[in-house]
Amino acid sequence: MPTACNVVVLISGSGSNLQALIDSSQAGADSSKSSPVRIRAVLSNRADAYGLERAKAAGIDTCVLDHKAFADREAFDAALVEAIDAFEPQLVVLAGFMRILSSDFVRHYAGRLLNIHPSLLPKYKGLHTHQRALEAGDGEHGCSVHFVTEELDGGPLVVQAVIPVRSHDSLDSLAQRVHEQEHLIYPLAVRWFAEGRLRLDAQGAMLDGQPLPSTGHLIRP
Ligand code: GAR
Repeated sequence: MPTACNVVVLISGSGSNLQALIDSSQAGADSSKSSPVRIRAVLSNRADAYGLERAKAAGIDTCVLDHKAFADREAFDAALVEAIDAFEPQLVVLAGFMRILSSDFVRHYAGRLLNIHPSLLPKYKGLHTHQRALEAGDGEHGCSVHFVTEELDGGPLVVQAVIPVRSHDSLDSLAQRVHEQEHLIYPLAVRWFAEGRLRLDAQGAMLDGQPLPSTGHLIRP
């Protein structure tokens, strides 16, 4: 049996995307067709992140590194790299990790660092994405998985889920429907990577040897 792809997941909060990744990596575990994804460890910059409980419940190693204990971003990121690399990951996954990463960190994991963002990038980088989509009167909203580069929320797109904004949508209802899509597209992208189907090369994000469109693979549920 081929060895699974070791994945380290970075979180800061609830970890519902982490849960979706855990569930997906465990699906079929009791059959002959085991998952290509092995979540090796979960790291958090906050000791109170609920995602740490999810990881422990799944028997996954956890590690907390409090950014406030470090003199600056570079020192924290250097310690983070050391903690992550102790688990020898082939892929590092940001799942609600609410820290801006230094250039050194991003370069160290070039081509093996994925992020999920709650908007249809390049729209609404940064925070308050659902509110901004509602205020702009957008007809569509969604979420994106992308390779991380030095540009904040700006790396090559892998997959986007596009949903309609309904006339009666509130901030909560829209956020909830986007979140549901996140839980589908992140396990999909991570699985593609683990299967060797998804790569970042000089042309950008490649799936099955073909360049992905600039939007990434589009899903309209
Ligand atoms: C998710 O909505 C994710 O897209 C967002 O944080 C949330 C984490 O939720 N990430 C960002 O905004 C990164 N720029 P979770 O902890 O329940 O997975």
